[in-house]
Amino acid sequence: STTPRPLIAGNWKMNGLAAALDEARAVAAALEQRPASARVAIFPPSTLLHRLAEAVEGSTVLVGGQDCHPKASGAHTGDISAEMIGDAGGAMVIVGHSERRTDHGETCQQVAAKVEAALAGDLEPVICVGESLEQRQAGEAVSFVVGQLRNSLPDSLQGKAFNVAYEPIWAIGTGHVASVDNIIEMHAAIRAELATRFGEQGRTIPILYGGSVKPENAAEILAAPEVGGALVGGASLKAKDFLAIIQAA
Ligand code: G3P
Repeated sequence: STTPRPLIAGNWKMNGLAAALDEARAVAAALEQRPASARVAIFPPSTLLHRLAEAVEGSTVLVGGQDCHPKASGAHTGDISAEMIGDAGGAMVIVGHSERRTDHGETCQQVAAKVEAALAGDLEPVICVGESLEQRQAGEAVSFVVGQLRNSLPDSLQGKAFNVAYEPIWAIGTGHVASVDNIIEMHAAIRAELATRFGEQGRTIPILYGGSVKPENAAEILAAPEVGGALVGGASLKAKDFLAIIQAA
């Protein structure tokens, strides 16, 4: 099987009002002028999903949701379904981000159910895993992340397009990017688990790194073995920085 193109994904989190659409338009326009070798996706807050999808329509920029409910519809105030994300113009969804696991107590079992919902809604999931600082200091980072991955991925992913994102919690929004050695070690462990679980397909699933990715460190991270892209938070909010990271891929 062939190696897929890297994925550079911008997670806006709970940032971005209507004015932010101009940044997305600028990314789309720049990629028109200079096509990237990477796939590019933006994950805005739900309120901007539809408008952002319209703003980048006809460009190569993909759009996705930051979360979806495990159910397809019903009495779940405040939640959105995978089908709604697709209806708004999204093609992808982030599932199991550490901020959801922490803020909303999402368990691996719930994350796996959300991944099932994403697949049922025809969305390509980006499934996040990552250890805390305490777990890393206790020497448990690799075993924790591999266990989290095992429990967050449903068997129904076999044969489906999906991505894994490794985001060490201590590197998110802190400016403390993981060392390339840490990234190489963890991505190798994730790759081994994916290959065991999904066979040939598991060898090519993109494994993204996330956590303080910036224009200054992107090239080195993206060149590391088994790094198949980046999940970018803060630096994805400005077109100039996000484009610099896209061009480093
Ligand atoms: O999902 C992306 C993220 O958690 C990383 O955020 O701001 O450290 O790039 P940031």
